[in-house]
Amino acid sequence: MINQQRNPDAGSQAPILVTGGAGFIGSNFVLDYLASGSGPVVNLDKLTYAGNPENLASVRHDPAYTFVHGDINDAALVAELLQRHQPRAIVHFAAESHVDRSIAGPEAFLRTNIDGTFTLLQAARAHFATLSETQRSQFRFLHVSTDEVYGTLLPEDPAFHEDTPYAPNSPYAASKAASDHLVRAWVHTYGLPAIITNCSNNYGPYQFPEKLIPLMIANALQGKPLPVYGDGQQVRDWLYVIDHCRALRTVLESGRIGETYNVGGGNQRSNLEVVNTLCALLDELVPTSKFAPHKQLVAFVTDRPGHDRRYAIDARKLENELGWHAEESFETGLRKTVQWYLANSTWVEHVTSGAYQNWIAQNYAARESSSTAIATAEAAR
Ligand code: NAD
Ligand code: DAU
Repeated sequence: MINQQRNPDAGSQAPILVTGGAGFIGSNFVLDYLASGSGPVVNLDKLTYAGNPENLASVRHDPAYTFVHGDINDAALVAELLQRHQPRAIVHFAAESHVDRSIAGPEAFLRTNIDGTFTLLQAARAHFATLSETQRSQFRFLHVSTDEVYGTLLPEDPAFHEDTPYAPNSPYAASKAASDHLVRAWVHTYGLPAIITNCSNNYGPYQFPEKLIPLMIANALQGKPLPVYGDGQQVRDWLYVIDHCRALRTVLESGRIGETYNVGGGNQRSNLEVVNTLCALLDELVPTSKFAPHKQLVAFVTDRPGHDRRYAIDARKLENELGWHAEESFETGLRKTVQWYLANSTWVEHVTSGAYQNWIAQNYAARESSSTAIATAEAAR
Protein backbone atom coordinates (compact mmCIF):
# COMPACT_ATOMS: atom_id res chain seq x y z
CA MET A 1 0.00 0.00 0.00
CA ILE A 2 1.54 3.30 -1.10
CA ASN A 3 1.41 6.15 1.38
CA GLN A 4 1.15 9.10 -0.97
CA GLN A 5 -0.65 12.38 -1.59
CA ARG A 6 -1.85 11.81 -5.09
CA ASN A 7 -3.05 14.50 -7.43
CA PRO A 8 -5.87 13.29 -9.64
CA ASP A 9 -4.84 14.78 -12.96
CA ALA A 10 -1.12 14.89 -13.54
CA GLY A 11 -1.55 15.59 -17.24
CA SER A 12 -0.68 13.48 -20.24
CA GLN A 13 3.10 14.07 -20.25
CA ALA A 14 5.18 11.24 -18.71
CA PRO A 15 6.45 12.24 -15.26
CA ILE A 16 9.91 11.94 -13.82
CA LEU A 17 10.52 10.06 -10.59
CA VAL A 18 12.66 12.13 -8.23
CA THR A 19 14.18 10.54 -5.13
CA GLY A 20 15.07 12.74 -2.15
CA GLY A 21 13.04 15.64 -3.54
CA ALA A 22 12.22 17.01 -0.08
CA GLY A 23 15.88 17.75 0.70
CA PHE A 24 17.90 20.85 -0.15
CA ILE A 25 18.85 20.31 -3.82
CA GLY A 26 15.94 17.96 -4.54
CA SER A 27 13.29 20.47 -3.46
CA ASN A 28 14.95 23.29 -5.42
CA PHE A 29 15.03 20.92 -8.42
CA VAL A 30 11.34 19.95 -8.08
CA LEU A 31 10.28 23.61 -7.81
CA ASP A 32 12.48 24.63 -10.74
CA TYR A 33 11.39 21.66 -12.89
CA LEU A 34 7.69 22.32 -12.30
CA ALA A 35 8.10 26.08 -12.85
CA SER A 36 9.85 25.42 -16.14
CA GLY A 37 6.84 23.43 -17.38
CA SER A 38 9.02 20.40 -18.08
CA GLY A 39 6.31 17.96 -16.92
CA PRO A 40 4.94 16.19 -13.84
CA VAL A 41 7.04 15.05 -10.90
CA VAL A 42 6.62 12.08 -8.54
CA ASN A 43 8.77 12.63 -5.45
CA LEU A 44 9.81 9.60 -3.35
CA ASP A 45 11.31 10.72 -0.05
CA LYS A 46 11.81 9.01 3.31
CA LEU A 47 11.66 12.36 5.14
CA THR A 48 14.75 11.87 7.26
CA TYR A 49 15.85 14.81 9.41
CA ALA A 50 17.01 16.45 6.14
CA GLY A 51 13.74 16.03 4.26
CA ASN A 52 11.18 18.78 4.76
CA PRO A 53 7.75 18.84 3.07
CA GLU A 54 7.58 22.55 3.96
CA ASN A 55 10.11 23.17 1.14
CA LEU A 56 7.43 22.02 -1.31
CA ALA A 57 4.39 23.64 0.30
CA SER A 58 3.95 25.93 -2.73
CA VAL A 59 3.35 22.95 -5.09
CA ARG A 60 1.43 20.70 -2.70
CA HIS A 61 -1.81 21.23 -4.63
CA ASP A 62 -0.22 21.36 -8.07
CA PRO A 63 -1.76 18.56 -10.16
CA ALA A 64 1.65 17.96 -11.72
CA TYR A 65 3.18 17.08 -8.31
CA THR A 66 2.80 13.80 -6.40
CA PHE A 67 4.52 13.09 -3.10
CA VAL A 68 5.26 9.54 -1.93
CA HIS A 69 6.56 8.99 1.60
CA GLY A 70 8.90 6.01 1.43
CA ASP A 71 12.41 4.57 1.37
CA ILE A 72 14.47 3.91 -1.76
CA ASN A 73 15.50 0.65 -0.09
CA ASP A 74 11.89 -0.56 -0.35
CA ALA A 75 12.20 -2.55 -3.59
CA ALA A 76 8.50 -3.40 -3.78
CA LEU A 77 7.49 0.24 -3.39
CA VAL A 78 9.96 1.43 -6.02
CA ALA A 79 8.80 -1.27 -8.48
CA GLU A 80 5.16 -0.32 -7.88
CA LEU A 81 5.87 3.37 -8.44
CA LEU A 82 7.68 2.67 -11.70
CA GLN A 83 4.87 0.42 -12.88
CA ARG A 84 2.12 2.85 -11.86
CA HIS A 85 3.63 6.15 -13.05
CA GLN A 86 5.72 4.95 -16.02
CA PRO A 87 8.26 7.77 -15.55
CA ARG A 88 10.43 8.83 -18.46
CA ALA A 89 13.37 9.28 -16.06
CA ILE A 90 14.59 8.74 -12.53
CA VAL A 91 16.51 11.64 -11.00
CA HIS A 92 18.26 10.24 -7.96
CA PHE A 93 19.08 12.73 -5.18
CA ALA A 94 18.20 10.65 -2.10
CA ALA A 95 21.23 10.30 0.12
CA GLU A 96 22.71 10.91 3.50
CA SER A 97 24.73 13.99 2.61
CA HIS A 98 26.56 15.50 5.60
CA VAL A 99 30.26 14.62 5.97
CA ASP A 100 30.38 15.24 9.75
CA ARG A 101 27.41 12.91 10.30
CA SER A 102 29.16 10.25 8.19
CA ILE A 103 32.16 10.48 10.51
CA ALA A 104 29.95 10.21 13.62
CA GLY A 105 27.85 7.32 12.23
CA PRO A 106 28.62 5.86 8.79
CA GLU A 107 25.99 3.05 8.80
CA ALA A 108 23.09 5.09 7.42
CA PHE A 109 25.37 6.34 4.61
CA LEU A 110 26.11 2.81 3.45
CA ARG A 111 22.45 1.81 3.73
CA THR A 112 21.00 4.70 1.73
CA ASN A 113 23.82 5.77 -0.56
CA ILE A 114 25.04 2.30 -1.55
CA ASP A 115 22.22 -0.20 -0.82
CA GLY A 116 19.54 2.34 -1.77
CA THR A 117 21.20 3.13 -5.10
CA PHE A 118 21.58 -0.60 -5.76
CA THR A 119 17.86 -1.13 -5.08
CA LEU A 120 16.92 1.70 -7.44
CA LEU A 121 19.23 0.44 -10.18
CA GLN A 122 17.75 -3.05 -9.99
CA ALA A 123 14.21 -1.67 -10.10
CA ALA A 124 15.10 0.64 -13.00
CA ARG A 125 16.68 -2.25 -14.86
CA ALA A 126 13.60 -4.48 -14.43
CA HIS A 127 11.34 -1.60 -15.46
CA PHE A 128 13.48 -0.74 -18.48
CA ALA A 129 13.07 -4.30 -19.75
CA THR A 130 9.29 -3.81 -19.92
CA LEU A 131 9.43 -0.63 -22.04
CA SER A 132 8.70 -0.29 -25.73
CA GLU A 133 11.50 0.62 -28.13
CA THR A 134 10.41 4.30 -28.15
CA GLN A 135 10.13 4.46 -24.36
CA ARG A 136 13.57 2.86 -24.01
CA SER A 137 15.15 5.46 -26.27
CA GLN A 138 13.76 8.21 -23.99
CA PHE A 139 14.33 6.65 -20.55
CA ARG A 140 17.17 8.00 -18.37
CA PHE A 141 18.57 7.31 -14.91
CA LEU A 142 20.28 10.50 -13.70
CA HIS A 143 22.53 9.87 -10.71
CA VAL A 144 23.29 13.06 -8.78
CA SER A 145 26.74 12.77 -7.24
CA THR A 146 29.50 14.85 -5.74
CA ASP A 147 33.01 16.11 -6.43
CA GLU A 148 34.09 14.60 -3.08
CA VAL A 149 34.58 11.24 -4.83
CA TYR A 150 37.78 12.67 -6.35
CA GLY A 151 39.41 13.33 -2.96
CA THR A 152 41.46 16.40 -2.17
CA LEU A 153 43.63 18.82 -4.21
CA LEU A 154 46.91 20.59 -3.46
CA PRO A 155 46.89 24.37 -4.05
CA GLU A 156 48.68 24.02 -7.40
CA ASP A 157 46.72 20.99 -8.69
CA PRO A 158 44.41 21.41 -11.69
CA ALA A 159 40.67 21.24 -10.97
CA PHE A 160 38.85 17.86 -10.96
CA HIS A 161 37.91 16.71 -14.45
CA GLU A 162 35.81 13.73 -15.47
CA ASP A 163 38.88 11.46 -15.73
CA THR A 164 40.36 12.37 -12.35
CA PRO A 165 40.87 9.07 -10.46
CA TYR A 166 38.47 8.41 -7.59
CA ALA A 167 40.06 8.86 -4.14
CA PRO A 168 37.27 9.37 -1.58
CA ASN A 169 38.42 10.31 1.92
CA SER A 170 35.32 10.41 4.15
CA PRO A 171 32.69 7.71 4.76
CA TYR A 172 30.22 9.96 2.90
CA ALA A 173 32.53 10.35 -0.11
CA ALA A 174 33.31 6.62 -0.11
CA SER A 175 29.60 5.76 -0.12
CA LYS A 176 28.93 8.17 -3.01
CA ALA A 177 31.94 6.79 -4.92
CA ALA A 178 30.57 3.26 -4.43
CA SER A 179 27.18 4.36 -5.76
CA ASP A 180 28.82 5.98 -8.81
CA HIS A 181 30.66 2.72 -9.53
CA LEU A 182 27.40 0.77 -9.30
CA VAL A 183 25.73 3.14 -11.77
CA ARG A 184 28.66 2.83 -14.16
CA ALA A 185 28.52 -0.99 -13.96
CA TRP A 186 24.75 -1.04 -14.62
CA VAL A 187 25.34 0.99 -17.81
CA HIS A 188 28.14 -1.20 -19.07
CA THR A 189 26.80 -4.60 -18.01
CA TYR A 190 23.04 -4.21 -18.35
CA GLY A 191 22.73 -1.31 -20.80
CA LEU A 192 20.81 0.88 -18.34
CA PRO A 193 20.73 4.40 -19.88
CA ALA A 194 22.27 6.22 -16.91
CA ILE A 195 24.27 9.45 -16.63
CA ILE A 196 26.29 10.65 -13.61
CA THR A 197 26.84 14.25 -12.54
CA ASN A 198 29.53 15.19 -10.00
CA CYS A 199 28.88 18.61 -8.51
CA SER A 200 30.75 20.93 -6.17
CA ASN A 201 29.38 22.57 -2.99
CA ASN A 202 25.87 23.97 -3.42
CA TYR A 203 24.35 26.83 -1.46
CA GLY A 204 21.02 28.66 -1.58
CA PRO A 205 17.46 28.50 -0.20
CA TYR A 206 16.23 25.50 1.85
CA GLN A 207 19.71 24.26 2.81
CA PHE A 208 19.60 22.55 6.21
CA PRO A 209 21.59 24.60 8.75
CA GLU A 210 24.09 21.85 9.50
CA LYS A 211 26.10 22.85 6.39
CA LEU A 212 28.61 25.70 6.47
CA ILE A 213 26.68 28.61 4.94
CA PRO A 214 23.22 28.24 6.55
CA LEU A 215 24.80 27.24 9.89
CA MET A 216 26.90 30.42 9.94
CA ILE A 217 23.89 32.59 9.01
CA ALA A 218 21.69 30.98 11.68
CA ASN A 219 24.37 31.24 14.39
CA ALA A 220 25.33 34.83 13.52
CA LEU A 221 21.72 36.00 13.73
CA GLN A 222 21.53 34.57 17.26
CA GLY A 223 24.92 35.88 18.36
CA LYS A 224 26.31 32.35 18.66
CA PRO A 225 29.95 31.43 17.84
CA LEU A 226 30.76 30.79 14.17
CA PRO A 227 32.71 27.51 14.38
CA VAL A 228 35.46 27.47 11.75
CA TYR A 229 37.21 24.10 11.54
CA GLY A 230 41.03 24.08 11.80
CA ASP A 231 42.67 27.11 10.20
CA GLY A 232 39.72 27.91 7.91
CA GLN A 233 41.95 27.76 4.82
CA GLN A 234 40.19 24.77 3.24
CA VAL A 235 38.88 25.67 -0.21
CA ARG A 236 35.49 24.77 -1.70
CA ASP A 237 34.12 25.62 -5.18
CA TRP A 238 30.66 27.11 -4.60
CA LEU A 239 27.66 26.81 -6.93
CA TYR A 240 24.26 28.45 -6.48
CA VAL A 241 21.72 25.62 -6.21
CA ILE A 242 19.47 26.85 -9.05
CA ASP A 243 22.46 26.74 -11.41
CA HIS A 244 22.92 23.10 -10.38
CA CYS A 245 19.21 22.41 -11.03
CA ARG A 246 19.50 23.96 -14.50
CA ALA A 247 22.56 21.81 -15.18
CA LEU A 248 20.63 18.69 -14.19
CA ARG A 249 17.73 19.58 -16.51
CA THR A 250 20.24 20.13 -19.32
CA VAL A 251 21.95 16.78 -18.72
CA LEU A 252 18.59 15.04 -18.46
CA GLU A 253 17.51 16.39 -21.84
CA SER A 254 20.79 16.31 -23.79
CA GLY A 255 23.46 14.41 -21.85
CA ARG A 256 25.06 11.34 -23.42
CA ILE A 257 24.26 7.95 -21.90
CA GLY A 258 27.10 6.45 -19.86
CA GLU A 259 28.87 9.79 -19.51
CA THR A 260 29.88 11.72 -16.44
CA TYR A 261 29.50 15.52 -16.29
CA ASN A 262 31.24 17.66 -13.69
CA VAL A 263 29.20 20.64 -12.46
CA GLY A 264 30.78 23.63 -10.73
CA GLY A 265 30.59 27.38 -10.44
CA GLY A 266 34.27 28.31 -10.70
CA ASN A 267 34.02 30.02 -7.31
CA GLN A 268 36.91 28.77 -5.20
CA ARG A 269 36.87 30.37 -1.75
CA SER A 270 38.50 29.49 1.56
CA ASN A 271 36.04 28.78 4.38
CA LEU A 272 37.32 31.82 6.25
CA GLU A 273 36.67 34.03 3.21
CA VAL A 274 33.12 32.65 2.99
CA VAL A 275 32.45 33.28 6.69
CA ASN A 276 33.93 36.79 6.55
CA THR A 277 31.83 37.63 3.47
CA LEU A 278 28.70 36.36 5.22
CA CYS A 279 29.51 38.47 8.28
CA ALA A 280 29.93 41.59 6.11
CA LEU A 281 26.62 40.87 4.32
CA LEU A 282 24.82 40.48 7.66
CA ASP A 283 26.39 43.72 8.96
CA GLU A 284 24.94 45.46 5.89
CA LEU A 285 21.53 43.74 5.71
CA VAL A 286 20.82 43.74 9.48
CA PRO A 287 22.26 47.13 10.48
CA THR A 288 20.42 47.10 13.82
CA SER A 289 21.94 43.77 14.91
CA LYS A 290 23.39 43.92 18.40
CA PHE A 291 25.92 41.27 17.32
CA ALA A 292 27.58 43.43 14.62
CA PRO A 293 30.29 43.37 13.55
CA HIS A 294 29.42 39.67 13.14
CA LYS A 295 33.07 38.81 12.42
CA GLN A 296 33.71 39.03 16.16
CA LEU A 297 31.71 35.78 16.53
CA VAL A 298 34.25 33.72 14.53
CA ALA A 299 35.62 30.87 16.69
CA PHE A 300 38.30 28.48 15.42
CA VAL A 301 37.57 24.95 16.59
CA THR A 302 39.09 21.49 16.31
CA ASP A 303 39.34 20.36 12.70
CA ARG A 304 37.20 17.72 10.98
CA PRO A 305 39.06 14.35 10.93
CA GLY A 306 40.46 13.64 7.45
CA HIS A 307 39.33 17.10 6.29
CA ASP A 308 39.80 17.51 2.51
CA ARG A 309 41.87 20.63 1.88
CA ARG A 310 40.64 21.77 -1.51
CA TYR A 311 37.96 20.98 -4.10
CA ALA A 312 37.74 22.63 -7.52
CA ILE A 313 35.70 21.60 -10.55
CA ASP A 314 36.57 21.78 -14.22
CA ALA A 315 33.09 22.05 -15.81
CA ARG A 316 34.25 22.59 -19.40
CA LYS A 317 32.75 19.33 -20.69
CA LEU A 318 29.26 20.38 -19.59
CA GLU A 319 29.81 23.93 -20.83
CA ASN A 320 31.26 23.06 -24.23
CA GLU A 321 29.18 19.97 -24.99
CA LEU A 322 25.78 20.96 -23.62
CA GLY A 323 26.04 24.76 -23.48
CA TRP A 324 25.40 25.11 -19.73
CA HIS A 325 26.92 28.02 -17.81
CA ALA A 326 26.48 29.11 -14.20
CA GLU A 327 24.42 32.30 -14.20
CA GLU A 328 24.93 33.36 -10.61
CA SER A 329 28.22 34.80 -9.36
CA PHE A 330 29.24 33.92 -5.80
CA GLU A 331 28.59 37.50 -4.71
CA THR A 332 25.05 37.71 -6.14
CA GLY A 333 24.19 34.15 -5.07
CA LEU A 334 25.39 34.65 -1.51
CA ARG A 335 23.47 37.93 -1.18
CA LYS A 336 20.27 36.22 -2.43
CA THR A 337 20.87 33.36 0.00
CA VAL A 338 21.31 35.62 3.04
CA GLN A 339 18.20 37.57 2.00
CA TRP A 340 16.26 34.29 1.71
CA TYR A 341 17.26 33.18 5.23
CA LEU A 342 16.37 36.60 6.63
CA ALA A 343 12.95 36.46 4.94
CA ASN A 344 12.30 32.86 6.05
CA SER A 345 13.06 32.89 9.76
CA THR A 346 10.02 30.68 10.45
CA TRP A 347 11.43 27.96 8.18
CA VAL A 348 14.73 28.18 10.10
CA GLU A 349 12.91 28.03 13.45
CA HIS A 350 11.01 24.92 12.38
CA VAL A 351 14.06 23.01 11.16
CA THR A 352 16.30 23.99 14.06
CA SER A 353 13.96 22.79 16.79
CA GLY A 354 14.03 19.29 18.27
CA ALA A 355 16.55 16.79 16.94
CA TYR A 356 18.67 19.50 15.33
CA GLN A 357 19.77 20.68 18.78
CA ASN A 358 21.00 17.17 19.63
CA TRP A 359 23.17 17.11 16.50
CA ILE A 360 24.64 20.55 17.24
CA ALA A 361 25.45 19.51 20.80
CA GLN A 362 27.05 16.26 19.60
CA ASN A 363 29.11 17.80 16.79
CA TYR A 364 30.33 20.99 18.44
CA ALA A 365 30.54 20.27 22.18
CA ALA A 366 33.51 17.97 21.58
CA ARG A 367 35.31 20.55 19.43
CA GLU A 368 37.45 22.69 21.68
CA SER A 369 38.65 26.07 20.53
CA SER A 370 41.99 25.46 18.92
CA SER A 371 44.68 28.02 19.77
CA THR A 372 47.05 26.60 17.12
CA ALA A 373 44.36 26.99 14.51
CA ILE A 374 43.61 30.52 15.67
CA ALA A 375 47.27 31.53 15.44
CA THR A 376 47.59 30.07 11.92
CA ALA A 377 44.36 31.61 10.79
CA GLU A 378 45.17 35.04 12.26
CA ALA A 379 48.39 34.98 10.28
CA ALA A 380 46.44 34.14 7.13
CA ARG A 381 43.86 36.93 7.50
P1 NAD B 1 19.90 16.57 1.74
O1 NAD B 1 20.55 15.85 2.86
O2 NAD B 1 19.48 17.99 1.93
O3 NAD B 1 18.58 15.77 1.26
C1 NAD B 1 18.56 14.39 1.12
C2 NAD B 1 17.10 13.96 0.90
O4 NAD B 1 17.08 12.54 0.71
C3 NAD B 1 16.18 14.26 2.09
O5 NAD B 1 14.96 14.77 1.63
C4 NAD B 1 15.98 12.89 2.75
O6 NAD B 1 14.74 12.78 3.43
C5 NAD B 1 16.04 11.98 1.53
N1 NAD B 1 16.44 10.60 1.88
C6 NAD B 1 17.49 10.21 2.65
N2 NAD B 1 17.53 8.87 2.74
C7 NAD B 1 16.49 8.40 1.98
C8 NAD B 1 16.02 7.11 1.66
N3 NAD B 1 16.62 6.01 2.15
N4 NAD B 1 14.94 7.00 0.85
C9 NAD B 1 14.32 8.11 0.36
N5 NAD B 1 14.72 9.36 0.65
C10 NAD B 1 15.80 9.51 1.44
O7 NAD B 1 20.89 16.42 0.52
P2 NAD B 1 21.28 17.49 -0.61
O8 NAD B 1 22.31 18.38 -0.11
O9 NAD B 1 20.04 18.04 -1.17
O10 NAD B 1 21.97 16.50 -1.68
C11 NAD B 1 21.18 15.81 -2.64
C12 NAD B 1 22.08 14.94 -3.48
O11 NAD B 1 23.05 15.75 -4.12
C13 NAD B 1 22.86 13.91 -2.67
O12 NAD B 1 22.91 12.72 -3.42
C14 NAD B 1 24.24 14.52 -2.52
O13 NAD B 1 25.23 13.52 -2.43
C15 NAD B 1 24.36 15.28 -3.83
N6 NAD B 1 25.21 16.48 -3.79
C16 NAD B 1 25.05 17.43 -2.82
C17 NAD B 1 25.85 18.58 -2.86
C18 NAD B 1 25.68 19.69 -1.83
O14 NAD B 1 26.49 20.62 -1.82
N7 NAD B 1 24.69 19.65 -0.98
C19 NAD B 1 26.81 18.74 -3.86
C20 NAD B 1 26.96 17.73 -4.82
C21 NAD B 1 26.15 16.61 -4.78
O1 DAU C 1 31.57 19.14 -2.48
C1 DAU C 1 30.24 18.72 -2.50
C2 DAU C 1 29.81 18.36 -1.09
O2 DAU C 1 29.68 19.60 -0.40
C3 DAU C 1 28.51 17.57 -1.04
O3 DAU C 1 28.70 16.33 -1.68
C4 DAU C 1 28.08 17.35 0.41
O4 DAU C 1 26.83 16.70 0.44
C5 DAU C 1 27.96 18.70 1.08
O5 DAU C 1 27.65 18.53 2.44
C6 DAU C 1 29.27 19.49 0.95
O6 DAU C 1 30.33 18.87 1.74
P1 DAU C 1 31.33 19.77 2.62
O7 DAU C 1 31.87 18.94 3.69
O8 DAU C 1 32.28 20.50 1.75
O9 DAU C 1 30.24 20.85 3.18
P2 DAU C 1 30.04 21.51 4.63
O10 DAU C 1 29.04 22.60 4.46
O11 DAU C 1 29.79 20.50 5.68
O12 DAU C 1 31.45 22.17 4.91
C7 DAU C 1 32.02 23.10 4.01
C8 DAU C 1 33.39 23.47 4.56
O13 DAU C 1 33.21 24.20 5.77
C9 DAU C 1 34.24 22.26 4.90
O14 DAU C 1 35.59 22.54 4.59
C10 DAU C 1 34.07 22.11 6.41
C11 DAU C 1 33.87 23.54 6.87
N1 DAU C 1 33.00 23.73 8.07
C12 DAU C 1 31.78 23.14 8.06
C13 DAU C 1 30.94 23.27 9.15
C14 DAU C 1 29.59 22.60 9.18
C15 DAU C 1 33.42 24.51 9.12
O15 DAU C 1 34.54 25.08 9.09
N2 DAU C 1 32.59 24.66 10.18
C16 DAU C 1 31.37 24.05 10.26
O16 DAU C 1 30.67 24.20 11.31
